[in-house]
Amino acid sequence: MTQSIAVLDFGSQYTQVIARRIRELNVYSKIYHYSTPVTKLREDGVCGIILSGGPNSVMAENAPHPDKALFDMGIPVLGICYGLQLMGYLLPGGEVGHSAQREYGHGVLHINKPSPLLQGIRDGIRVWNSHGDRMENAPDGFEAVASTENSGFAVIQNLEKQFYGIQFHPEVFHSEQGIDLIRNYLYGICGCTGEWTMAHYVDESVAKIRDQVGDKKVILGLSGGVDSSVAAALIHKAIGDQLYCVFVDNGLCRLNEAESVNKLFHDNFHMNLTIARAEDRFLNALNGVTDPEQKRKIIGHTFIKVFDEEVEKIGEVDFLAQGTLYPDVIESVSIDGNPASLIKSHHNVGGLPEDMKLKLLEPLRELFKDEVRALGTELGLPKSVVWRQPFPGPGLGVRVMGEITKERLDILRKADALLIEEMKACDLYYKVWQSFAVFLPVRTVGVMGDERTYDFVIALRIVESTDAMTADWARVPHEILGRISNRIINEVKGVNRVVLDISSKPPSTIEWE
Ligand code: XMP
Repeated sequence: MTQSIAVLDFGSQYTQVIARRIRELNVYSKIYHYSTPVTKLREDGVCGIILSGGPNSVMAENAPHPDKALFDMGIPVLGICYGLQLMGYLLPGGEVGHSAQREYGHGVLHINKPSPLLQGIRDGIRVWNSHGDRMENAPDGFEAVASTENSGFAVIQNLEKQFYGIQFHPEVFHSEQGIDLIRNYLYGICGCTGEWTMAHYVDESVAKIRDQVGDKKVILGLSGGVDSSVAAALIHKAIGDQLYCVFVDNGLCRLNEAESVNKLFHDNFHMNLTIARAEDRFLNALNGVTDPEQKRKIIGHTFIKVFDEEVEKIGEVDFLAQGTLYPDVIESVSIDGNPASLIKSHHNVGGLPEDMKLKLLEPLRELFKDEVRALGTELGLPKSVVWRQPFPGPGLGVRVMGEITKERLDILRKADALLIEEMKACDLYYKVWQSFAVFLPVRTVGVMGDERTYDFVIALRIVESTDAMTADWARVPHEILGRISNRIINEVKGVNRVVLDISSKPPSTIEWE
């Protein structure tokens, strides 16, 4: 069994960051709902527990509390912020009080005593705080080993039981040496040995996939995006020709998309790959449709029909592979401490055909996005795939405003390809979140040579973001924007004007439809 650390989630916005930091240190970690019973943690063989931060006061009515028996498991426990206060509230002798003022921002850490948690940590480092309550008294058997101006209990420990508490947030990068503190906990206290590497993950999942699939067939909708590409490469490594990939060419793809998918996965990786040419079906179904949600529905339904037909042709298939990621399956904790947990919904390629009666194979379910990229690199996928920008399922269908026609799609495809080419040439493509062109069904007047033109407008949308929830327009240097605009107007017939979108999200969205 892989060594693992349980992160109990009390609703902090940083819970996923804690889990990711641990994995970056080559130790597997999993996020658990705060109420997870100790029997489950024992069953999973966790070798250490971290109690996350949280927005509540530990003393509030309905405040989320863990199964107290975790303090009797005989394994190390680290409480971070709310987690430290939980120790103060739940363990005998401890005391927590409301502080007059919420401590938010930087503090300076003074180390008062040696501690396994503070090995190699410098006195006077800046640490990041965000808490309302404060510990007034450490529980019996604990001692304070470090303090900040506002708290005598910035770091506490009970060496006999191997319980530790940190009032600040070591997981955020504003905390100096935060990663070293976490490393000390994992390696110095929990006895981890750093088993979690991508090479190890590949070996483990290959064995698991072989075991799960046996001699059956697996179908996978390959979109050419990061997740489905990495899933395909991993499953193919495990079961080779038992994997059947289908790329649906819906006519809403970027320039030469089907060709490059074919080249990489069929020619290079030698996978079973069908390119389902369905442009006409999609465009016929979309004929005259202008409403964005209607477009999405039609594209989704048509995808399922086309995909279904391809599955029929392959014959008996048992598994449907999907590139579901870990953040899609983590149960989220509601802020008011209500134990009824919410399962996040997630969209998958075109929507899951429910009546297909296929078993699901989701080999990326345990991975964060950055780990999926590391895995893709480990499996030999090129940078252009592993670091590809996100692309919406309905493709250019939601980037041609209003009615979709082949002529408009062709114009957009060319403009978009030029934009991508220039963004790559100036080394900005991989630095921004998304950069794409949008077709506006508006004709404006221009002059080319001696002639008057009356052509369409292309908008450039280039944004920076870390999770697509919020975004800002990227400040791309004017010379680069000028070059992109010139090339589009000169090289794409039908366009005589290029405009730049300078809206942030919110209140705008990244896509235009
Ligand atoms: P918005 O436009 O909502 O986009 O700010 C946020 C992120 O989601 C992508 N997006 C979609 N992805 N199907 C998808 O699979 C869709 O219908 C869809 N709409 C938007 C968008 O590209 C951005 O990354």
